[in-house]
Amino acid sequence: MNQPNQPNQQAVSFTTINQSTMINTRILAIETSCDETAAAVVENGTTILSNIIASQTDLHAQYGGVFPEVASRKHIEVIHAVVDQAMNTAHLGFDDLDCIAVTRGPGLVGSLLVGVNMAKGLAVGSGKPLLGINHIEGHIYSLWLSEETDKIEFPLLTLVVSGGHTELYLMHNHLVYEHLGRTLDDAAGEAFDKVGRLLGLPYPGGPAIDKASQDGSPTAFKFPRAVLDDGYNFSFSGLKTAVLRETNKYQPDKLPVNDMAAGFQAAVVDVLVAKTAAAAEDYNVAAVHLAGGVSANRALRRQMQESLDIPVRYPPPILCTDNAAMIAAAAHYRFMSDRRDTLDMDVLPGLQLV
Ligand code: KG4
Ligand code: ZN
Repeated sequence: MNQPNQPNQQAVSFTTINQSTMINTRILAIETSCDETAAAVVENGTTILSNIIASQTDLHAQYGGVFPEVASRKHIEVIHAVVDQAMNTAHLGFDDLDCIAVTRGPGLVGSLLVGVNMAKGLAVGSGKPLLGINHIEGHIYSLWLSEETDKIEFPLLTLVVSGGHTELYLMHNHLVYEHLGRTLDDAAGEAFDKVGRLLGLPYPGGPAIDKASQDGSPTAFKFPRAVLDDGYNFSFSGLKTAVLRETNKYQPDKLPVNDMAAGFQAAVVDVLVAKTAAAAEDYNVAAVHLAGGVSANRALRRQMQESLDIPVRYPPPILCTDNAAMIAAAAHYRFMSDRRDTLDMDVLPGLQLV
């Protein structure tokens, strides 16, 4: 395992934010990084006034994954209605807002462009500042929407596990991160989705495997755990190949789906928990936060809680998967640290957090 480092100097020089001295903010945020068209209005980074999500899941199910061209076209069709609904539900006009925030990356370029251009148009039309937000930072700040913020202590460790990411961040303070680990190949959610397809389960595979596992034995199949020696990085491609090899031994209609789902899920959860627990101990953190679509997984939540004797927190399921409320929550802290963007802001599909 890596030895704990000092936080990187660039990160610690960031403005430290004191929640008690904050002014009130009302932020409209837009999120279109993948296949959810979402808009939300959030007050003070904590109180959700509206949270509208138009999911394209049914549309992409026929392809077994997100079809980028189809996703961006659908965003264009529905984004106006989604933003209108977010503003109407919040009972606010644009004059009541402090800024317009939008996900600028990481994500699918065509999808990001729809949200960013919509946000630019709204910023010009309303005269309000524009703020581009990192999608991963949004997932991290989803925890501030569901917790009383004064309970949250630093340093804390956040495991962001989604369809596109498996990242371990040490958070020293608001907006101050140290990147401890990442997946070297497939993201955890991507592995759930691919294995779901191998098992003939509906898309997306994550929730389907979570459900099927309830009726399966996690020990009927012993799939490999890639607990790599290089620090806090993850790898899931070998596990996916092991499941594929096992499925090939059965006639499709004879697949022991529930046992295989439970065995696969147990292997993913064991690795996520082992690495997170090791980092939590090495860095002596106050709490562990789970975020991203896979943080909705019941076995992951349970096992993480059972394995750690510090608080383990996760958002309610609706805030685990992509939404714009989390983007507004992150935008609140960026706004308070005086960050503003200009109309030449571009999308950044490969944007890193640190
Ligand atoms: O955060 P998210 O909505 O999108 C990305 O930013 O990628 O995460 C979507 C991912 C999908 O891979 C989905 O299968 C997975 O989250 N997921 C789950 C569960 N619910 C969603 N994985 C495991 N168990 C779940 N209950
Ligand atoms: Zn996401």
